[in-house]
Amino acid sequence: MKRIAVLTSGGDAPGMNAAIRAVTRGALARGWEVLGVTNGYAGLLAGIFSPLTARDVGGIVQKGGTVLGSARSPEFATPQGRGKAVGELKERGVEALVVIGGNGSQTGAASLDEAGFPVIGVASTIDNDVYGTDVSIGADTAVNITLEAIDRLRTTASSHQRAFLVETMGRDCGHIALMAGIAGGAEVISIPESDITPEQMAERLSDSYRRGKTHAIAVVAEGARCGIREMMEHYGKHKDSIGFELRVTRLGHVVRGGAPSAADRVLATRIGADAVELMAAARFGVLAGIVKGEPAATPLAEVAGRTRPADVRLLELARVMAL
Ligand code: F6P
Repeated sequence: MKRIAVLTSGGDAPGMNAAIRAVTRGALARGWEVLGVTNGYAGLLAGIFSPLTARDVGGIVQKGGTVLGSARSPEFATPQGRGKAVGELKERGVEALVVIGGNGSQTGAASLDEAGFPVIGVASTIDNDVYGTDVSIGADTAVNITLEAIDRLRTTASSHQRAFLVETMGRDCGHIALMAGIAGGAEVISIPESDITPEQMAERLSDSYRRGKTHAIAVVAEGARCGIREMMEHYGKHKDSIGFELRVTRLGHVVRGGAPSAADRVLATRIGADAVELMAAARFGVLAGIVKGEPAATPLAEVAGRTRPADVRLLELARVMAL
């Protein structure tokens, strides 16, 4: 191997920079050249490449976002777009590409692999829903930012005897809401993987009120069937029966920004370096991730188009702990 390229794609995630650094320095240590692609697949199609040296990736391990930039590219999803992307890579003598990103990005990586170009995926999304890895880069930070918000909201909720609906990101996966909800002692958690109704959520809140709690926190994943809108509609009609006054906080992109946690930096460094090892062993067309604490390489063909749901068994644990 002489020259590789690396890109970040889809929604950014805290720890992506640590992964870029690990891929770059791991490859340079083997004597390979590294090209960084600007703005994901869109930059690949536009041919925006620049060489990365060890110094170029210095001082970024602690930074959120991605220094390479990211974008969504509808053109890349077409066969013509993929053909063009492969052409851009080959024209520059790139022998393998590392794709750091979540589900959609890894589905794109699988299509490059199918088109015959050597590619390795690195699992990175705050949603933690990539099939083939137990943990994705960015999820730990997003859980911790959500948790900090819950802890802060609890103090003001208690002062005013209020309940709060806290909405966090995760697209169609409830991992962030579930983990932050358990760690933050939430009274109720609503995630896409569960079928809790507004009536049941309201009952949990009013039950907390009757049991003398001074506050109640409901953590709601953005993709939950019982979301903020459904809950507020219910509250509008049954205000008095809940006991608490209800307030809403939507965390949105706040949970995706800022510095990565130590766990995300270490994870990104590990699987970024693993991606280089896989390339050195000519094991292409796989996703570098972690399964049961060990490095794992899962065929991208298995990863493409699939998602990994949150562990719903933990909802019962959360319910008992809210007594
Ligand atoms: O996939 C990461 C994610 O942050 C999801 O949690 C969220 O639904 C989505 O991206 C938001 O996308 P955008 O940044 O394009 O609004």
